[in-house]
Amino acid sequence: MRAGRTLGIETSCDETSVAVLDGEGRIEVNLLSSQVAAHAPFGGVVPELASREHLRVLPTLAAAALNRAGGPTELVAVTGGPGLIGALLVGVRFASAFAWGRGLPLVAVDHLEGHLASSFLDLGGGPAREMPARVLALVASGGHSNWYLLRDGQAERCCRTRDDAAGEAFDKVAQALGLPYPGGPVVDRLARNGDPRAVALPRPRLKDSPLDFSFSGLKSATIRHIRAEALQAGGDGEPSPEVCDLLASFETAVVDHLLQPLEELAVRHRPELLTASGGVAANTLLRRRLERAGEELGVEVLLAPRPLTTDNAAMIARAGQLAFHRGERDDPRRLDARASRKWQPPGMRRAS
Ligand code: KG4
Ligand code: ZN
Repeated sequence: MRAGRTLGIETSCDETSVAVLDGEGRIEVNLLSSQVAAHAPFGGVVPELASREHLRVLPTLAAAALNRAGGPTELVAVTGGPGLIGALLVGVRFASAFAWGRGLPLVAVDHLEGHLASSFLDLGGGPAREMPARVLALVASGGHSNWYLLRDGQAERCCRTRDDAAGEAFDKVAQALGLPYPGGPVVDRLARNGDPRAVALPRPRLKDSPLDFSFSGLKSATIRHIRAEALQAGGDGEPSPEVCDLLASFETAVVDHLLQPLEELAVRHRPELLTASGGVAANTLLRRRLERAGEELGVEVLLAPRPLTTDNAAMIARAGQLAFHRGERDDPRRLDARASRKWQPPGMRRAS
């Protein structure tokens, strides 16, 4: 069944976002209110503070989005999990009340399905692109680092991280240097001035599961180097060349590790398209290396538009439309939020 104009709501972590997409996935509105400044004094996201900020901002943001939409809403999509439970509940209760009050269908989507859908959105005002039958998709963010096979729109996880997520490693290394949170964007900027061969850092390999990731060893080795060399980058001046060299070496090790399963997965699954999404997919080196890998493998590459790599409601609205097409519906009187990563709606299955 066609979805029609869709209101999307995302409150899983520290961004409040509301979007409206038309029935073909054109972005009409995508509003975002970042809480980064509220959490910055604490060096990370404070869950209770996140819920309160969502409560404060969401009604105004939703009213503004609906005002700018091109017509009446026909479907409501909201992030149901995974994420911070209090933060998720603000979005879920708001979306449920809105859908119930207006008699609209409601779909709860997995946050990761949102990231997977983000690569197919167009910031230039065009409709969302259709998914081909076989897509290899990387999702790398502050909470996840997974490759998926999207087979006829159904996501099967091919590999995952066994410990830290890639974005978490960026954040922790930045924090050890005294750089602000989130660390990814600033590491990306400083790494451009560094020599990626300057510091030898480990490329982890897991014997029992060679395609899976492990970022904690690489993170610890990088932080040990920071302490041993007494490197610091906080303060007003530009960081030293040694800091830039270390960050370039670290960034290269992360990107090498994220791309390491790609060749084998491409041979195994013969994808028609490679995609990348999630906050880390904004990374300059990762984007460049994915483009090159696509050329070498002869597979088209479709990267999430940079502004849509981090959490946003446009991707949630699109994932909601796809779920609605598959026949998924949620009852606004019963819908609950789930904090756990295990939350998997019918469309998401683990590859055996
Ligand atoms: O997808 P996202 O907004 O939130 C989660 O669902 O986690 O991702 C945020 C993560 C943070 O860890 C941040 O440091 C990282 O994405 N990130 C980057 C870049 N921009 C954001 N990492 C590397 N390079 C970037 N340019
Ligand atoms: Zn995310």
